[in-house]
Amino acid sequence: MKNLGLYIHIPFCIKKCDYCDFYSLCHDERLEEEYINALCSHIKKDAYLYKDYSFDTVFFGGGTPSVLSIKSFDKLVNCIKTNLTLTQGGEFTIEANPGTLNREKLECYKRNGVNRLSIGLQSTNDNELCGLGRIHTLSEFEQGYYLARECGFDNISIDIMYGLPNQKLDDFKKTLDHVCEFNSEHISAYCLKIEENTPFGKKQDALNLPNDDEEYEMYMALCEALNEKGWQQYEISNFAKENYRSRHNLKYWLSQEYIGFGPSSHSFFDGERYFYQRDIKKYIEGVCNGTPSRVLESEADETHINKMDEYVLLKLRLSDGISLSEFKNRFNKDFLNEYPNIEKYVKTDHVSINGDIYSFTPKGFFVSNYILTDILHF
Ligand SMILES: C[S@@+](CC[C@H](N)C(=O)[O-])C[C@H]1O[C@@H](n2cnc3c(N)ncnc32)[C@H](O)[C@@H]1O
Ligand code: SF4
Repeated sequence: MKNLGLYIHIPFCIKKCDYCDFYSLCHDERLEEEYINALCSHIKKDAYLYKDYSFDTVFFGGGTPSVLSIKSFDKLVNCIKTNLTLTQGGEFTIEANPGTLNREKLECYKRNGVNRLSIGLQSTNDNELCGLGRIHTLSEFEQGYYLARECGFDNISIDIMYGLPNQKLDDFKKTLDHVCEFNSEHISAYCLKIEENTPFGKKQDALNLPNDDEEYEMYMALCEALNEKGWQQYEISNFAKENYRSRHNLKYWLSQEYIGFGPSSHSFFDGERYFYQRDIKKYIEGVCNGTPSRVLESEADETHINKMDEYVLLKLRLSDGISLSEFKNRFNKDFLNEYPNIEKYVKTDHVSINGDIYSFTPKGFFVSNYILTDILHF
C-alpha cells in the first residue's frame, strides 16, 4: 500500500488571537456538532478514493482542535479508523491551546492513539501573552504541559513567536531560555507576521514592532541557543531533537502526498493540488449536497509556479537542502544551469555547499523569501 498523510482542519477557537489569520471561528457547541457530522460524512463518502493507501501521518490542525469535546473527538477518530487505513506506528498529532487542556481530554487523545502534541505557548511572558490576545498564562501552559507528560506524551512540540510588539532581544532571550527548560522534543518558532485582516493588521503602526535588524538578531539568537542545547534546525522555523522531526510536516516540504478535510484544508493527491474554501457553512452545505467543491491551486494561484521551481522552493526550506544528483535524476537537468543566481549567495554565506548539497545557512534562512524570488523563475 502507498503512504499518504491526513490533515483534518478544526476551525474553532475559544477566542481569536489578535494576530492570527488561520481560518477559525469562535467556538460554538451546536456548530461543532454539525461540523463533526459533516466531516464524518465527507470522510465516509470519499474513503473509496483512498482504499489503496495507508495513512502514516494524521494531523489535526486549526484553529484549535483541542476545543473539541471528548464526544466529538471520539466520534471523529472512530470514523477515520472505520473508513481509512492507518499505518501501525504512524504519527498522530493534535494541535492544542494550553487554555483548553485537561486530564480527561489528554486521556481521550491517548486512548485514541494520538502520539504527538503540538502546544501553542508563543511567549513565557504573561504581559506579551496578554498583548497577543492569548487566552492563557505561562502557568496554565505549565500545568497543561506537565499533565501531558504525566499522561504519557513523550513527543511534544512547543510553538513560540518572536518579533512581538514592544519585544526587545533580551525579552526574547528570556522566552528562549525558559522554553528550553521544558526540554520538549520539538520547537516551532515563527517570526510574527502582520496579517492584513486581523486586529494587529488594522493597527500595525501603533504596535511598536522590532525593526528588521532586531528581528534578525532574535532569529540568530534562536538558532544559536537551540542548536547549542540539542535541537537541530531542520526547517526555517522548526527545530527537533534527534528522531523527532515532524513526519507530517515533512511531507509538505518533500512534495509527498497528503489529503485534507475541512474548510481551508489543502491536499496534494494524484499529482493535483487543491483546497476547500475558508467557509464552514459552504463546506457543510457541500457535504450535504454530495461533496464540497475543490479549488485547484493551479487556478487560484496567480504566480503559476512550475513543478521544478516548486521542488526547489520546498526543498530549500529544509536544512537538508537540494542534492544536485537528485535534482538531475528527477528533472534530467543541471541545477546550476537552471538556477545560476544561487552562486552569488554562496559567496555571501547565505547558502552553503556540502558535497553535492546546496542549503541555506541560518543567516540565509532569515532572508530566504528574498533569495528565492531572485533565484526562481516566477
Ligand atoms: C493553529 S496555531 C496552534 C494551535 C493553537 N491554535 C494555539 O494557538 O495554541 C498555529 C501556530 O501558528 C503560529 N501563528 C499563527 N499566526 C501567526 C502569525 N501571524 N505570525 C506568526 N506565527 C503565527 C502560532 O505560533 C501558532 O501557535
Ligand atoms: S493562534 Fe491558535 S488560538 Fe490563536 S486564533 Fe490562531 S488558531 Fe486560534
